[in-house]
Amino acid sequence: MEVRAVDRDQWCELRSLRLRALADAPTAFASTLAEEKDKPDEFWQERATGGDATTTLFAVGDERPVGTATVLIEGGEPRRAHMVGMWVEPSHRRRGAGGSLIEAAASWARAAGAGQLDLWVNERNEAAVALYTRAGFRLTTQRQPLPSNPSLTEVVIRKTL
Ligand SMILES: CC(C)(COP(=O)(O)OP(=O)(O)OC[C@H]1O[C@@H](n2cnc3c(N)ncnc32)[C@H](O)[C@@H]1OP(=O)(O)O)[C@@H](O)C(=O)NCCC(=O)NCCS
Repeated sequence: MEVRAVDRDQWCELRSLRLRALADAPTAFASTLAEEKDKPDEFWQERATGGDATTTLFAVGDERPVGTATVLIEGGEPRRAHMVGMWVEPSHRRRGAGGSLIEAAASWARAAGAGQLDLWVNERNEAAVALYTRAGFRLTTQRQPLPSNPSLTEVVIRKTL
């Protein structure tokens, strides 16, 4: 599936996709719909803009965005990348969008000089763990309560780039 970096002028589509993601999969993310639904336009414009240290990606299906993920480069050396906000709308799942988003995120992070790509995943999120494992990520022992629902546990899953 085609993956493109989001443009600043696509911030409305980004907001719409992100709010649908938070409503659809509340235990998949550190943040909540309540925390993000009233964010000002500038918040979404900034997120859509990207830069040297961050990019947000869209997976495009049926000529519209159907999935998204964001990559951030952490400060320090060696450079490490972090991926957040992976979501594919239910009608387009199991068609390769998640895998394509990971490939694009990994190649953007590699080009930005990162040697590894990390993300936090709810350890009970079987679909996501299966997706990442198939894409070459391996679970680490780094765990913490899921910020949006501390009764659940999230774990770092890591891919060497
Ligand atoms: C997890 C998610 C992103 C997967 O997206 P997707 O586009 O369906 O993934 P893909 O089609 O690229 O799947 C690639 C492989 O991952 C694995 N996989 C994906 N979904 C799976 C599921 N529900 N059960 C088991 N394995 C799954 C399979 O190995 C799959 O290959 P296959 O379809 O040939 O069997 C999607 O289900 C989603 O958005 N879930 C809600 C949000 C979420 O959990 N985000 C992760 C936050 S860390």
